[in-house]
Amino acid sequence: MKIRVATAEDWAAIWPLFREIVAAGETYSYPRDLTYEQGRDIWMLDAPSRTVVAVDTEGEVVGSAKMNPNFAGGAAHIASASFMVAPAAAGNGVGRALGEYVLAWARAEGYRGMQFNAVVESNSRAVRLWQSLGFTIMTTIPEGFRHPTKGYVGLHIMYQPLH
Ligand SMILES: CC(C)(COP(=O)(O)OP(=O)(O)OC[C@H]1O[C@@H](n2cnc3c(N)ncnc32)[C@H](O)[C@@H]1OP(=O)(O)O)[C@@H](O)C(=O)NCCC(=O)NCCS
Repeated sequence: MKIRVATAEDWAAIWPLFREIVAAGETYSYPRDLTYEQGRDIWMLDAPSRTVVAVDTEGEVVGSAKMNPNFAGGAAHIASASFMVAPAAAGNGVGRALGEYVLAWARAEGYRGMQFNAVVESNSRAVRLWQSLGFTIMTTIPEGFRHPTKGYVGLHIMYQPLH
């Protein structure tokens, strides 16, 4: 597995896993019926932000991450990032490798911290992975997310300083 910067041509290969994860509605606060173009506008970021793909040994895209300043102006020194691993490829270390990548990117770019704004409490794999990469749950918005089968669940803001 290799992680490389995504090109515009990679969106066609990211789209199937992006659509599956967004349509499931369990982990992202995006509209579940996003179109191909809407998804591309959200996910494919230009420098100085960045979108990467994780590709397996056959060159297949198995995951993607985007990384960017969390806010602008006076809060632009805090980074954020988002992750999607193909459900069929989950549990093989792709998410951890992408997490390590975005932290290395943020450090190299001089960010002073990384913030995740909306980690769904019931997404235990993601919560545990981010904690193991150094993130702390700063607070939890009670009933901040409506899960399609679990109903209202908490929404974590997670953070780690990088300096
Ligand atoms: C969350 C996500 C990015 C994790 O990616 P992944 O490739 O499955 O993660 P990894 O294989 O690196 O595993 C991460 C950890 O989860 C653990 N894990 C694996 N399968 C698990 C499961 N079924 N339940 C709970 N934890 C699990 C692993 O033990 C691993 O920990 P380790 O590295 O200490 O062994 C991925 O599942 C995903 O894209 N999910 C849908 C979208 C999403 O939730 N994005 C993040 C929003 S905050």
